[in-house]
Amino acid sequence: MQPIDEIRVRLDGDMQKLESLVAAPGAVAGAPANEGEGAKALSRQFEELKVRYLGKKGDISGLLRVMGTLAPEARPEYGKLVNELRDIAEARFAALQAKIQEAEIADSVSGSTLDATLPGYRVPLGSLHPMTQVREEIISFFQGLGFELALAPEVDNDWYNFEALNIPPDHPSRDMHDTFYVDDKVVLRTHTSNVQVHYMETHQDQPIRIIAPGFVYRVDNDATHSPMFQQVECLVVDKDISFANLKGTLFLWARHMFGTETTMRFRPSYFPFTEPSAEMDVSCYFCKGQGCRTCKQTGWIEIGGCGSVDPNVFGKVGWDPEKYTGFAFGFGIDRITMLKYGIPDISHLTRNDNRFLRQF
Ligand code: DAH
Repeated sequence: MQPIDEIRVRLDGDMQKLESLVAAPGAVAGAPANEGEGAKALSRQFEELKVRYLGKKGDISGLLRVMGTLAPEARPEYGKLVNELRDIAEARFAALQAKIQEAEIADSVSGSTLDATLPGYRVPLGSLHPMTQVREEIISFFQGLGFELALAPEVDNDWYNFEALNIPPDHPSRDMHDTFYVDDKVVLRTHTSNVQVHYMETHQDQPIRIIAPGFVYRVDNDATHSPMFQQVECLVVDKDISFANLKGTLFLWARHMFGTETTMRFRPSYFPFTEPSAEMDVSCYFCKGQGCRTCKQTGWIEIGGCGSVDPNVFGKVGWDPEKYTGFAFGFGIDRITMLKYGIPDISHLTRNDNRFLRQF
């Protein structure tokens, strides 16, 4: 065991010497303590010492090499002690190396005009627009219920936007949609309901559960209407789907979106592609249904239209209305966003004022 102890003591002495050199003020920069050579000299001494102890032909490897000359029963204990010594040496060299590097950095900083105490530049981080956040939240809620995400074109044939949805050319309900016409037969879609037709045409005779957000276009442009806005459409088709399924689904969604205190109501309405049709309202978030400016003193806020799929629509897309029933809804994402975040004026959503957007 004697050579091990000897090397341990020598290593300790050598390390202490080098450690105190590194710790000496100005050591790295080249103080007299370091013979004026600074960092370079220290690094050289460090490397030499490391090789001397830990190198292939170094003292510690040498200890292992003589293991064969020991009595077999003494070997395990001997090997253990040598390994311990190697671990200690490695840890000490690693710590010293870190100190040398630190000293080098401190030295280069103190020698330059760089003021390390100055605050850094702030890099502004963006965030998602509140309408995008709401859209994503709606999608993920419905995906959680097993709905599939679906999309349809924004520039579409009259057939998909109107005719197949039971809105013939001279139908008065076309007046509700101030349509941008690309030509006689092609429009910018006025609602996301065109997705219903596309999806049913391409997924014949099978259960459907889709959620379909997207941009829609209308000629309107005033304080409360923008010519381009976002809707989210839902369609469920299967055997025995009823209005009760629609109510249940929307009730779950409204509570998820606006909180468990939310109540909702359906008002009879008219859409050519649903029968019966309804407008869904939720209780006003601001006044909790008491009546305020936002809800025009009614206690309710209109979210959008919904209903049971009109049998005529099934007929148009080649489905058997005797076999299948369904429900659908189409909501404005802007309204939902205003309600969810308590935004009193719709124009905030499109003005892109950073003071507003930064809050989300
Ligand atoms: N597409 C209608 C609109 O934009 C909204 C709508 C109403 C969609 C009833 C539906 C629905 O899916 O069932 O005014």
